[in-house]
Amino acid sequence: MDIYRIKGGKKLKGEVSISGAKNAALPIIVASLLAEGETVLKNVPDLMDIKTIIKVIEYLGAKCDFDTAKNTLKIRVNSLRNAEVPYDLVKTMRASVYVMGPLLARCGEADVSLPGGCAIGERPIDIHLSGFEAMGATIDIEHGYIKARAERLAGAQFPMRQVSVGATANLMMGAVLAKGTTILENCAMEPDIVDLGNFMVKMGAKIKGLGTERITIEGVKKLSPASHNIMPDRIEAGTYLLAGAITRGDVAITKAAPGDIEALTAALGDIGFSIDKTKDTVRIRPGKVLAGTIVRTLPHPGFPTDLQAPMMALMTTLPGISVIMETIFENRFTHVGELRRMGADVTLEGNVAVVRGVRRLTSATVMMSDLRAGAALVLAALAAENGTEIRRIYHSDRGYEKLSEKLSALGADIIREEGGKP
Ligand code: EPZ
Repeated sequence: MDIYRIKGGKKLKGEVSISGAKNAALPIIVASLLAEGETVLKNVPDLMDIKTIIKVIEYLGAKCDFDTAKNTLKIRVNSLRNAEVPYDLVKTMRASVYVMGPLLARCGEADVSLPGGCAIGERPIDIHLSGFEAMGATIDIEHGYIKARAERLAGAQFPMRQVSVGATANLMMGAVLAKGTTILENCAMEPDIVDLGNFMVKMGAKIKGLGTERITIEGVKKLSPASHNIMPDRIEAGTYLLAGAITRGDVAITKAAPGDIEALTAALGDIGFSIDKTKDTVRIRPGKVLAGTIVRTLPHPGFPTDLQAPMMALMTTLPGISVIMETIFENRFTHVGELRRMGADVTLEGNVAVVRGVRRLTSATVMMSDLRAGAALVLAALAAENGTEIRRIYHSDRGYEKLSEKLSALGADIIREEGGKP
């Protein structure tokens, strides 16, 4: 398995362009199954998760052509088949359950493996399943597989018991072809959901309330394929701003959507960094005095849980005490043990981490446990003295396009070595 070797202590400087959003591209790629014909998606990031979801929809009958050099994905859909989406595919990428919406909407049946838990939590999909039941589907679970059946999904009023990005996306994809009107309440307001909704409106869907907690969808008989540019990845954008912050450098992110990361840029301003924004760029530089801060992860527009680990890495280098509360997932502190190996001082109390800044992080051999925990270790290594070895970097390949190339272009001393220890 490949490893990263990173020599820290260099201030990152320069511009980095942001890739398309993984968490918008995944549901949009699946939504292309809702119509026959050819969908053309641009600004699709070249990531492991994208390659996995392409495998999933090809399993169901789609034909895909991904030009990774141009970040353009063409998807041709004719007949759709409810081939049982196997556990191996779903366990590597939970977003595979998104196929339930289009399969139920177009085929009236969906057999999909129940995703297991993952490093950051149990991550059940009960809200997805109750939503489809509210729309008239019958759901059985047999030998770890979801067997969903519905003559034709019918519009329903469905309040979600808690905000769920995935359930909002999945149920929207079922509702657009349902008979009648669906009102989803307590919806996710993440920009990725808005991008998915905008794409389906281009296909002919009738959707109101995108970006609010109440989405109303009037089912239509048929949708047509569309072309779409995937929005910029707000989590990648935030990660590079935090890389500039932790190295006390001068970094500008371009081709970004500053409005999607206001909770992060506000927190960085509170700490003492100077932040300059234009329509599609954000520049970060250190201010005169830096101090710890308090952050609580929340559904959008609150501070994103996917930036909790990278933000904690920064906090380990700030003077004084910082506090970060994780309110979305029950086990999203797997990076803390590895940060401690690099000299970080973090005390955990349930879902609260109290971070006491240290003068300097030190190098160590560490291991990624999931995508965003991995990003936190890369950031910490950029600030640590001497050379850090990071293992299991396939985790970061899932969500960060050309990570080592982009960091090297900013002046980081990072080498990807093939075939390191597992
Ligand atoms: C999406 O996951 C993202 N993944 C995650 O990003 C992100 O962390 C998460 O939203 C929160 O923003 C994709 O978009 C592919 P949820 P999702 O449903 O949809 C509970 C990354 O690093 N819940 O909003 O799975 C759940 O356990 C990934 O890119 C239920 O209880 O998240 C969690 O505690 C990691 N029942 C909370 O809701 C359900 O049916 C929020 O989960 C669904 C969710």
